Amino acid sequence: MSKPPMTADVRVDVHLTPEELRAALREDVASGLRAVPKDLPPKWFYDDRGSQLFDEITRLPEYYPTRCERAILVAHALEIAALSNADTLVELGSGTSEKTRLLLDAFARRDQLRRFVPFDVSEATLRAAAEAVAAEYAPVAVHAVVGDFERHLATIPRDGDRLVMFLGGTIGNLAPKARHDFLRDLAAGLGPGDAFLLGTDLVKDVDRLVRAYDDAAGVTAAFNRNVLEVVNRELRADFVPGRFEHVARWDAEQEWIEMRLRSTVDHVVEVRDLGLRAVFSAGEDMRTEISAKFRRERIEEELRDAGLELRHWWTDPAGDFALSLSFPA
Ligand code: SAH
Ligand code: AVI
Repeated sequence: MSKPPMTADVRVDVHLTPEELRAALREDVASGLRAVPKDLPPKWFYDDRGSQLFDEITRLPEYYPTRCERAILVAHALEIAALSNADTLVELGSGTSEKTRLLLDAFARRDQLRRFVPFDVSEATLRAAAEAVAAEYAPVAVHAVVGDFERHLATIPRDGDRLVMFLGGTIGNLAPKARHDFLRDLAAGLGPGDAFLLGTDLVKDVDRLVRAYDDAAGVTAAFNRNVLEVVNRELRADFVPGRFEHVARWDAEQEWIEMRLRSTVDHVVEVRDLGLRAVFSAGEDMRTEISAKFRRERIEEELRDAGLELRHWWTDPAGDFALSLSFPA
């Protein structure tokens, strides 16, 4: 006799409704298009198409971070589970939670997994991932949270001993002040039984770095231009993506990759919902993302400033990417 199917235990808290998201986008676009130089924050890349393109990026030969982080997890997930001693996994910027399965498997093997809390700004991707994990790991409870990790960290459920994970190097997409505030808020929300697992991309050969953000197949260029489609759709703008060239450059002083969209012609873009006309000159750049690369000392110091003690550090064999495990000091 076959067993009746298990009912997946999924709860989704929405702290960012589609209306609130649109209001936040309006603010960011209004200030970003008026700024000199113009900029748009990277969180707007991830509509359905953007999430799909990011997924493709993670499989590109030039984009090493995902493979390196996965290799570290393959080697150390069981050790991380033991060291954290957590029963609840919280994942910030969880996306499809693909690599996270390695940790979920390790925690499950140690019979240490009670709850999974994926947290992301992209509701559709989050819901799909939450359903999939709940079905694969039943009877583990999945409590998904739709929110902005720069604004809604305090809404994360606090029960259990938690391992809060921020993987993929996404912390590098925050500007230094935002990163500082993020780490401070995150640390303030951790209890004595909690731990923080952080994925950081490391400083390395500039050519490899630039190639990872300017791949031969043009997937990253499409990902970059897709943010214009998001603004067109959500705010009734008339960006023509083909008028912008994808640019990825290394800033040696800041130690970050900067992605930009460079206007190839003089033109005006109208954002109807904002009553805004933005003038672009030929050759003018609009910054769409920074992706900071780190050295151990810097991470350790920033974590310490936030009240966290870095106790464990793992890299892939080539030393391209690092995972660190920290605890409230
Ligand atoms: N952690 C995954 C996905 C990284 S892509 C990995 O390592 O492969 C970055 C993810 O962060 C996307 O899913 C995006 O929707 C989410 N994200 C970006 N900015 C965010 C913000 N401010 N708040 C919450 N999620 C955010
Ligand atoms: C999500 N984040 C860590 C990616 C990165 O590498 O900074 C986003 C990305 N941008 C271009 N390619 C990938």
